[in-house]
Amino acid sequence: MINIRKLEENEKLPINLLILADPSEEMILDYTSRGLCHIAEVNGEIIGAYVLIKTRPKTMEIVNIAVDESYQGRGIGKSLILHAIEQAKESGAKTLEIGTGNSSIGQLALYQKCGFRISVIDKDFFVRHYNEKIIENGINCVDMIRLSKDFD
Ligand code: ACO
Repeated sequence: MINIRKLEENEKLPINLLILADPSEEMILDYTSRGLCHIAEVNGEIIGAYVLIKTRPKTMEIVNIAVDESYQGRGIGKSLILHAIEQAKESGAKTLEIGTGNSSIGQLALYQKCGFRISVIDKDFFVRHYNEKIIENGINCVDMIRLSKDFD
């Protein structure tokens, strides 16, 4: 049975998970200090997490979402996104955003299946911000695809 809940202030960040979605620990520490981290637990073990931050008035962004490799492909990522959508609505947001690389085929599929629409392509984002060349699914990761979902 999976349980999704807010990470309490006295609990340690699940860095081992968050690092799967973002290789920069420095960035993770920065946005987790400004946002809310939620975790998914199975039998008391943390196997998934997401971080939600407020970016602009009535706009929030899922800046990190990750599921432990041995639990991927079982619907937990989708449950975390649906949970984030409810949290954003409860916080009064009208728009929820998420971004990923052009080569992240599975992530782009998941986000669109959860109702997100492509809004912006930030060309050469990964060329500008990362020193190492990133190749995923045989595709050069160069552009940031930003997606958003508006609430009624
Ligand atoms: N083509 C079509 N659909 C796909 C594909 C594909 N290549 N890959 C996945 N999907 C679909 C699945 O079929 C499923 O849809 P369904 O419910 O209709 O069957 C959905 O996408 C994925 O479902 P889940 O099982 O819920 O996903 P999972 O639990 O594996 O979590 C996640 C997804 C979080 C991306 C996980 O794979 C992960 O942690 N990856 C490593 C970290 C990462 O890349 N995080 C995102 C970075 S971007 C950011 O953090 C903002």
